[in-house]
Amino acid sequence: MEKIVSLCKRRGFIFQSSEIYGGLNGFWDFGPLGVELKRNLKDFWWRRNVRERDDMVGMDGSIIMNRAVWKASGHEDTFSDPMVDCLLSKERFRADQVPAQSGTIYRFTGAESATSGWKSEKEYSVLARQGENVERARKVARQYYALGRPEEKSGELANIELKGEATEAVEGTTRYNPTNGSLLTEPREFNLMFKSHAGPLESDDNKVYLRPETAQAIFVNFKNIQETSRQKLPFGIAQIGKAFRNEINPRNYIFRSREFEQMEIEYFCKAEDGLALTDYWLEQRLSFYEDIGIPRSKIHVVDIPDGERAFYSKKTYDLEYEFPFGISELEGIAYRTDYDLSAHIKASGKPLDYFDEETKTKFVPHVVEPSAGVDRTTLALICEAYDEETVTDEKGQSETRVVLRFHPRMAPIKVGIFPLLKNKPDLVAKAKAVAKALQPHMAVFYDEAGAIGRRYRRQDEAGTPFCVTIDFDTIGENGPEKQDTVTLRHRDSMEQERVAISDLLPRLLAAIL
Ligand code: GAP
Repeated sequence: MEKIVSLCKRRGFIFQSSEIYGGLNGFWDFGPLGVELKRNLKDFWWRRNVRERDDMVGMDGSIIMNRAVWKASGHEDTFSDPMVDCLLSKERFRADQVPAQSGTIYRFTGAESATSGWKSEKEYSVLARQGENVERARKVARQYYALGRPEEKSGELANIELKGEATEAVEGTTRYNPTNGSLLTEPREFNLMFKSHAGPLESDDNKVYLRPETAQAIFVNFKNIQETSRQKLPFGIAQIGKAFRNEINPRNYIFRSREFEQMEIEYFCKAEDGLALTDYWLEQRLSFYEDIGIPRSKIHVVDIPDGERAFYSKKTYDLEYEFPFGISELEGIAYRTDYDLSAHIKASGKPLDYFDEETKTKFVPHVVEPSAGVDRTTLALICEAYDEETVTDEKGQSETRVVLRFHPRMAPIKVGIFPLLKNKPDLVAKAKAVAKALQPHMAVFYDEAGAIGRRYRRQDEAGTPFCVTIDFDTIGENGPEKQDTVTLRHRDSMEQERVAISDLLPRLLAAIL
């Protein structure tokens, strides 16, 4: 993973947000290559799921909505994670992510200072994992009690005498900080929604939330969209947009962040079709991942068993990808029944039902929700594309070639255009003309700096599938036969072929569509 993170920074895919001020945990910026990659992903998702289908329409909802939306959806009351704090370092963890540990618990009934007369009767304990020295556990305990000393907080720990030491062997406990062994607080629920206020007054009446998912904007607009688009069941509404969650522990690079984007579909249907459509969408989504270069063999489909799904869901599949840090969720496909629309009907008192012309009946549609993360899929694309191989350069020396083998339709730059030499005006002019002709159709990178081999390597690292070199043949210096032809170099095979300039655009378009 370190190599991927370093390449992403070096080549301008991803930067830490507000980096010059030390960053902000859980927030990321996408640089020139990252934004193109993300855009290609979102555009292809939109094309596949909205434009190429007759039964789907799109929408773009506001990030901040009436607080009542989040009350009705259940987010205000239950969108929370259990949180624990380290009693010593104050570090915060998600309770369900603290690893199970075994060892000996050292319990203390209190501590006192022989020099100042200060004493504490608080109970505290430290875990010494198997093989860890007891003195380390005692030092941690002294550090903890020192926090409560009114004087000399950073003074001599040796002055603190621990009281009532007792030990207990333990297996698989999750009550202790994995870094320092200190006891953690009891779990408390922490609501993940970011809060703000709409308008100048900071009162409870104008409290608002940054949306933690895009889905609710679709549900509350169901009637508006169904009536204006005149869609009949089954049909879907798709949306791509930002979501915000104040995650307790953002981690694994951009995998779990506090600001991210979702690509969500709410596919409305009759109750009797819900289960079959869930399986249908599973297939659709797996083929989508294949079409962006993530093979089925790398995606693990988890059929969430009864008892582990949300109470309203009759079927949920998690699609997990083999990230370098472990197999982790990329997307969820949930059959949510009529839970969401019914909740909004109840809370708003407005009709969000559907009138079926054929049967002349009114009912609340059910919904299947494929919900994917833009950032997680972007990370999966980068991880899947990353490759290193040993190649021999023109001088016969071995070198490591770092190459991002993106599917051409996802690649941030589609083609690099190089004049063979930068000090030959005819070559430069021709290369710039070729670049200009391609630019309206795709992302092009013009590069005249350095040896051709180095320019190829730079594009390999950016994942550019094609490079075009304009040489003396192109400008007709070696006769008319090869005039207006160029060298087309393929990233993956490194093979080169001679192609007429007039064939370039159709060739490239066919590959990147
Ligand atoms: N509307 C359903 C919903 O939001 P979810 O499983 O909570 O379901 C859907 O989120 C997807 O959004 C996830 O599969 C993941 O790809 C992405 N996602 C969720 N939380 C995220 C986070 N903190 N950082 C990045 N992506 C996240």
